[in-house]
Amino acid sequence: MTLGLDRPLATALFDSLDRQPPDALLAVIGLHRADPRPDKIDVGVGVYRDAAGATPVMRAVKAAEARLLAGQDSKSYLGAEGDQRYTDLLATVALGDTLAADPRITGIQTPGGTGALRLAAELIARSGKAPTIWIGTPTWPNHGPIFREADLTVRTHAYFDTACSDLDFDTFVAGLAEARTGDVLLLHGCCHNPTGTGFSTEQWQTLATLTAARGLIPLIDLAYQGLGRGLDEDAAGMRGMLAAVPEALVAYSCDKNFALYRERVGALWVQAATPAAAIPVRETMLVLARSLWSMPPDHGAAVVRLILEDAEFALDWRAELAEMCARINDLRAALGRAHPALAPIAGQQGLFALLPIDRDAVATLRTLHGIYMPDAGRINIAGLRVDTVAPFVAALTPHLPHC
Ligand SMILES: Cc1ncc(COP(=O)(O)O)c(C=O)c1O
Repeated sequence: MTLGLDRPLATALFDSLDRQPPDALLAVIGLHRADPRPDKIDVGVGVYRDAAGATPVMRAVKAAEARLLAGQDSKSYLGAEGDQRYTDLLATVALGDTLAADPRITGIQTPGGTGALRLAAELIARSGKAPTIWIGTPTWPNHGPIFREADLTVRTHAYFDTACSDLDFDTFVAGLAEARTGDVLLLHGCCHNPTGTGFSTEQWQTLATLTAARGLIPLIDLAYQGLGRGLDEDAAGMRGMLAAVPEALVAYSCDKNFALYRERVGALWVQAATPAAAIPVRETMLVLARSLWSMPPDHGAAVVRLILEDAEFALDWRAELAEMCARINDLRAALGRAHPALAPIAGQQGLFALLPIDRDAVATLRTLHGIYMPDAGRINIAGLRVDTVAPFVAALTPHLPHC
């Protein structure tokens, strides 16, 4: 008997894999870390920072973690849906009371907003309808890969006017001319990454009318609720959209607004056409989740559940989130005042803004001034402090367009 060990392998399993480019943002982080200059500025990494430059654990999270540690008596498995009470309580924050009670809407916990988007992609693929996913650009760099990895077709259309540093709504809508009934339209619910722009109330209404009339299915990525204008304000456009269309998906992240980043806390809600249709949707979500990650990590979701269950914790979380939001908006106002080319930033929202500069300027800022951002010129507003706005804008000014 021979085991066939003497036969040479025709091919190695992995010999067709290509080298992959390093993550651009991680490279920026590495360069910043290695820079010895004490006055260096990191506006690259996409996490909230306080005035001391820290990304602290929120007060309510600390309190809830202490309660969880003292009271949790089992680490036994939960189901593929994760902590359902977490998802249901979070639905009242994200969707509002009316939609949270709508029997057409079903949701489960996911590993972060990324997990929610990936589950959405798999669910859409499982529909068998092969819709195209329409994504306005620029966008969060992971959006395209998430849908393509699920074998979906992605088409992009312009969202942003670089010259005006503003959303180009007419071009965005015109870019949907070839979208077909049943195609999926990805929308940032608020605090657009990377541009910081957002739809006005009227624009959300126009989009809701258009989406309903054309039979498009909105997939709303809500990753920064509460960091733009406020919890309800940031969700208003998405809620209006859900009320206007029969079917929709909402991919949610708690990783920014609860500052739970590495705990990977998210949820996916799907609005089906009828309560009866929501049942197989939910069952399919559970089957897909089972093969993707079996069940999501528990800790962060349990913390969010404890916060939302306890009136005092919830109040403190809302207060601290409002403080974070106010700090970002104060910095936005300071940037807007500091240079006419930065004026649009004052009226935009969330952590990010896209500077009207090219990659050469980004490189010069890095080498000459120790200011770190990705090549596209996206900045994390919270990487600044009131006292670093002036040196930041002074270094930036030679590279800004004259207005
Ligand atoms: C627009 C957008 N959607 C989703 C996510 C994913 O968030 P999470 O870290 O919860 O996976 C991010 C993260 O940066 C994001 O910017």
